Amino acid sequence: MYTLNLNQMSQNEFLTKYWQKKPVVIRQGFKNFVDPIEPDEFAGIAMEENVQSRLVYKKDGQWQAEFGPFERYEHLGERDWSLVIQALDNFSEEAAALIEPFRFLPHWRLDDLMTSFATPGGGVGPHIDNYDVFICQGSGKRHWRVGDRGQHAELIAHEALLHVEPFDAIIDAELETGDILYIPPGFPHEGVALEPSMSFSVGFRANSAISLLSGFADHLIDNELGGQLLEDPHRQAIANSGEISHQDYQSIKAQLQNLLDDDNTFKHFVGNFLTSAKHELDLMPSDEPFERDEVSELLAIHAIKRLGGLRAFYFDDTIDEGICYINGEQLMFAKEIAPVVKLLCNQLVIMPNDLAPWRDNEQFLDLMIKLLDQGFWFWTEA
Ligand code: SIN
Ligand code: CO
Repeated sequence: MYTLNLNQMSQNEFLTKYWQKKPVVIRQGFKNFVDPIEPDEFAGIAMEENVQSRLVYKKDGQWQAEFGPFERYEHLGERDWSLVIQALDNFSEEAAALIEPFRFLPHWRLDDLMTSFATPGGGVGPHIDNYDVFICQGSGKRHWRVGDRGQHAELIAHEALLHVEPFDAIIDAELETGDILYIPPGFPHEGVALEPSMSFSVGFRANSAISLLSGFADHLIDNELGGQLLEDPHRQAIANSGEISHQDYQSIKAQLQNLLDDDNTFKHFVGNFLTSAKHELDLMPSDEPFERDEVSELLAIHAIKRLGGLRAFYFDDTIDEGICYINGEQLMFAKEIAPVVKLLCNQLVIMPNDLAPWRDNEQFLDLMIKLLDQGFWFWTEA
């Protein structure tokens, strides 16, 4: 288990002073830090088909990027390259544990755990992210420079890398194992490995209005909503046929506004949207469907764990009506089991003791069967 230590700052002090405002180095944010994954296993994951990975290096002074899956690494040598895996939390239970200390932030804001292994001199180059990121230094050391927010010209050193021009540093620090660098969106930064090193980036992303709006449009189409035409049965004759009157403009705007104001529709969309997986899940559905008796017995001796990267959320005002959202879909359940559904959404692991009151509840057992059958939750050691 990883315990986050914010250097005498409370979580709220950190949020007030730094979150979304300015970068900061948190020395020994993780005391006695041990990598959750060895570089060899990490490199092996980047060989898998459904994993998003990339290799970044310089050749003859030019930035290069290659995309996985990779077949070999021997040719790369001992210096100046970096291997990055997106959403490692979907593929390594041990690495996913690094997200847990960040549960003081709501997980609908979480994006993924991006991880990199870099040899000395390796890095991905100077760039700006749209993320709030906690870069947690694992084994080895990296030199990080962070510039101020502002206008930073893009530098097309490589079309896939979205680099920025060199910048003046407001933070210039060597990160050692267990140190954390927090960077809000918009601050240019660059890390260069000083030794073979692992770096774990817990990223938080906010959606833009445009991505919400296009997602909402898809939701309306999928659910055959919003197809009503504008109605104007009370129209009066006008003098200027070329004019769009203020009143007409208002009723056009109201067509859209009414959809947004319909909380049933918009909440359904937001729940689905925020729980949709951005990266492929490593799903292992059960071979044979579970039975109620079997699940009830197993719940007494095993804990249950949520699959890495699976998103499950609820709204505080509709959970008690029996509504939650899991992996991009609205799920309806019997109101009486709302307390245990909250546990499923709030905790990664649930112990047999916490499930004891629900072990004989058929509604809960049926829900668990569905979640276990799909591979969304799985049994783990209590
Ligand atoms: C890296 O791990 O090398 C890149 C992390 C980042 O810049 O966000
Ligand atoms: Co970055």
